[in-house]
Amino acid sequence: MQTFDRATLLRDLKSYLTFLRSYGYTDIPLESNSSLNADSRNTDEVHPLNESTQPQSAMTKQTPAKKSTVPTLENIRTELGDCTRCKLSSGRKTIVFGSGNPRADLVFVGEGPGKDEDEQGFPFVGRAGKKLTEIIEKGMNLHREQDTYICNIVKCRPPGNRDPKEEEISACKPFLVKQLQAIRPLAIVALGKPAASTLLGRSVPITKERGTWHEFEGIPLMLTFHPAYLLRFYTLENRRAVMDDMNKVLKKMKG
Ligand code: URA
Repeated sequence: MQTFDRATLLRDLKSYLTFLRSYGYTDIPLESNSSLNADSRNTDEVHPLNESTQPQSAMTKQTPAKKSTVPTLENIRTELGDCTRCKLSSGRKTIVFGSGNPRADLVFVGEGPGKDEDEQGFPFVGRAGKKLTEIIEKGMNLHREQDTYICNIVKCRPPGNRDPKEEEISACKPFLVKQLQAIRPLAIVALGKPAASTLLGRSVPITKERGTWHEFEGIPLMLTFHPAYLLRFYTLENRRAVMDDMNKVLKKMKG
């Protein structure tokens, strides 16, 4: 039988509760005769992810005083559907919508899925993805899935990993904008020139402008090198530059 250590269970529980909260759940009531009262509870024996102890119907959903007009990530994914708005749809295996915490304080925006992402359906899971994870987890001391949300300016793989074309970016941008509006993080990081240019609506010379603050709809936006660029030009100077940029982001998020 598979066993879990306490830290893993707590991390999974936090992640699951964060997920529920993102769908509007505000509390999970316990039955009054529950055996899980404070006196009898043996935290080592309770499996926090055993949903059968709390049936879904027992959960209460938040009723907002005023209906929000901002769609949720789930709404946005539904609207995207089996997208054929641009030609990238004909060559893709999977739509790579985004992954991470829908309530993250930090969002990374990349360029577009590569081969690995297209196959697995998640952003930044290939070589550049491993570098990005390292930047987030080792460099920033954050947890990739719990503390960040990651997406791209186009959600389908450009053939041969070419840059996405203007019309492909224009077709996909409304969904990126809605994702950022839904999450409204404390900071956004644009990874590389295409992401920076898309979010700022102008051609950004990334080597000149990386490390500088901008805004996207009032949200602080940091520009930095794409992790694939970093891997290609793996100099001390470039690695330091990205870490400087990420330290600025951490500082901004702490207020
Ligand atoms: N590069 C990107 O820009 N995005 C991905 O998802 C993967 C690699």
